Amino acid sequence: MVVVMAPEATNADVQAVVDLVRSAGGTAFVSRGVSRTVVGLVGDVADFDALNLGGLAGVLRVIRVSAPYKLVSREHHPDRSVIRVGGVPIGPDTLTIIAGPCAVESAEQTLRAAWMAKAAGAALLRGGAFKPRTSPYSYQGLGEEGLRILAGVRAETGMPVVTEVIDPGHVDLVASYADMLQVGARNMQNFALLQAVGSAGRPVLLKRGFSATVEEWLSAAEYIAQRGNLDIVLCERGIRTFENATRNTLDISAVPVAQRLSHLPVIVDPSHSGGRRDLVLPLTRAAIAVGADGLIIDVHPEPTAARCDGDQALVDADIRQLAEVASVLPPVMGRTLA
Ligand code: E4P
Ligand code: PEP
Repeated sequence: MVVVMAPEATNADVQAVVDLVRSAGGTAFVSRGVSRTVVGLVGDVADFDALNLGGLAGVLRVIRVSAPYKLVSREHHPDRSVIRVGGVPIGPDTLTIIAGPCAVESAEQTLRAAWMAKAAGAALLRGGAFKPRTSPYSYQGLGEEGLRILAGVRAETGMPVVTEVIDPGHVDLVASYADMLQVGARNMQNFALLQAVGSAGRPVLLKRGFSATVEEWLSAAEYIAQRGNLDIVLCERGIRTFENATRNTLDISAVPVAQRLSHLPVIVDPSHSGGRRDLVLPLTRAAIAVGADGLIIDVHPEPTAARCDGDQALVDADIRQLAEVASVLPPVMGRTLA
């Protein structure tokens, strides 16, 4: 942490900062420049936070140098991690595709979507039984019945299941059916939910919030890690910007940025970011080219009848193209399709 003193700060102001830091067990190094004095702090950042140094006389600003997350950082774990979901790897050597319906609507729709997903190269099945909808009048999902359907489709297709949990009170229930728990964009900073999934004994797919910085996203992952669960996969799914030609703006640079800061795998959701079927394949290619460790993609056997996000779901006619992208591009990036 660095404390930047205002130009008019007196020697007494600087000394007050030094004394306070020492009283908290830290060390303070004063560096006097021509126009500015800065004080470098060494010690436990959490102790310094409690000192409210920014409120002291003569202090212009306090700059945090270290990140507010540790366990998920590359400093803590220099090698990139491989997370296994029902035996399927997600990590630096593979490209893992998760695909399926946005929402589980029936056993038949989910099974047909799962076969489409498999034909496209997906190793893992997605599908929401509990849907986080903007409007309470929109389709909310089948709840536990949806989880049972997913488990049945897993038994039939052999695809491990990734499904969202939106309520801390449902975590044990969802974990009893799912191979991976998804925390969606809307719940990225639901700290009680993050802690609950951190204790659930299942890998977690953590989507980035619409308005979250990469630092906030990684700090959210830290809540899960703090509970002893480092089996976390990060998912860039587009952020809110001024642009309204797409549902969200895919922040493609967030993929290498997050991979550099964190050892956790980073995948991309080209469906929820673009919000349009015609953008899914171009964004998929971009994601693979930028180095994403995987993708999560919506597919639906009859998107016009879909109860959620039909506009962005791939249809049968797209599957051959996605399968081709999935077989051709990963080797170019030094990866194999998981
Ligand atoms: C789908 O997975 C989400 O539930 C959906 O994108 C929510 O968006 P909406 O409720 O605003 O349609
Ligand atoms: C989803 O994948 O079903 C979903 C709701 O996505 P997001 O949280 O990214 O909006």
